[in-house]
Amino acid sequence: MTNLQTLFTPGLIAAQQPEWPGGPTGEPIAKAVTALKKLPPLVFAGECDNLKAKVAEAQAGRAFWLQGGDCAETFASATADSIRNRIKTILQMAAVLQYASSMPVIKVGRMAGQFAKPRSSGTETRGDVTLPAYRGDAVNDIEFTPESRNPDPQRLVQVYNTSASTLNLVRAFTQGGFADLRQVHEWNKGFTNDPRFGQRYEQMAGEIGRALNFMSSAGVDPESFKKVDFYASHEALILEYEKALTRIDSRTGLAYDVSGHFVWIGERTRQLDGAHMDFAAKVQNPIGVKLGPKTTGADALAIIAKLNPTNEPGRLTFITRMGAGLIREKLPEIVETVAKSGAHILWVCDPMHGNTYEAPSGYKTRRFDDVMDEVRGFFEVHKKLGTHPGGIHIELTGDDVTECVGGGEQISEADLASRYETACDPRLNHTQSLELAFLVAEMLRDR
Ligand code: PEP
Ligand code: CO
Repeated sequence: MTNLQTLFTPGLIAAQQPEWPGGPTGEPIAKAVTALKKLPPLVFAGECDNLKAKVAEAQAGRAFWLQGGDCAETFASATADSIRNRIKTILQMAAVLQYASSMPVIKVGRMAGQFAKPRSSGTETRGDVTLPAYRGDAVNDIEFTPESRNPDPQRLVQVYNTSASTLNLVRAFTQGGFADLRQVHEWNKGFTNDPRFGQRYEQMAGEIGRALNFMSSAGVDPESFKKVDFYASHEALILEYEKALTRIDSRTGLAYDVSGHFVWIGERTRQLDGAHMDFAAKVQNPIGVKLGPKTTGADALAIIAKLNPTNEPGRLTFITRMGAGLIREKLPEIVETVAKSGAHILWVCDPMHGNTYEAPSGYKTRRFDDVMDEVRGFFEVHKKLGTHPGGIHIELTGDDVTECVGGGEQISEADLASRYETACDPRLNHTQSLELAFLVAEMLRDR
């Protein structure tokens, strides 16, 4: 039986941690951790194992991974409408990808826990005022005042509560009939009939409709049409939170991070000898690691040795985020080296984080065409190397925001101001997300 008291290596450096009032071991954070430790798990270890088995299928080329949601969830946006719209968008995308690939699509939200952000600078300056940077609702408030920007550990308890209510609604929506495949197809028809896209996506929607009609005429009405498995994921960033929610599974005696099914370690916190990697190495969840353009094949092998020394299938996912301009140059050496080693890895493309730029108006944005180009490069590299382009990782929302430019709606840099709502990075809106799904579906079909 694993001992939680001695599980994590003490004294390691944890990058990107807030400066809690009272210090890293002071009374305020200790109080929040004590409260969190008493709360029940948000997910069950058995569900994490189920997801791991599905990741193993995707590693073997028999499933496709779709992960999407906010860059940063906020407490204020955990409303019924916002959660429903995000789930709806992901389910619509999944239906198209599943049809085109003839493979199960693993549906994973950047949801119910994605409340903390790494920052390139610990402070933000406006005019002659410098304050702590916004690190996500888990840590402080986005408003630019000293009170708001002060880290408050009690927010971690609110992360737990908001994640619990989000997950409750996610489970209700995905198990209670809302997710019925036929309903999802009706929504997709609403999108493909939109005159702004001409006939670009109508053919595939028509094919899906005929396939569904064929099955219904044959009397096929499976349970699997009505319910879907939907998993929760977030970046494991604030280690006090993740450790407080790490529990021993009564079935196996092993430790699981029960704050979400899948957690990943970000590009800025994946130091091999750092506290985040030690954390990830010690929990049994399926784990992701972000890989940016400076990564080498040797780095990837070192991460594998650290996080999956037994080469357990389903355990490790690499989420590459190279940027459209670099993916064709940087990805091949990494994939080739890992493939040669025989390691079981799921390759997922994050076409968002390497493609951010600042518009002249000052808004942080991304071009839809750059996003698509990175995904295209990802497919090209895997095709050339004979490896499986296993999935995509997208920052999106179900609402009609104007945060990324381009797409069929032709959002321009001048349009950004009209509905720019993100608390962190720019997200694809509902329509751009569906467009991306149809375009990726074509790539999957042409594989
Ligand atoms: C993110 O996924 O929001 C993120 C910060 O990514 P990365 O660690 O790849 O920069
Ligand atoms: Co982001």
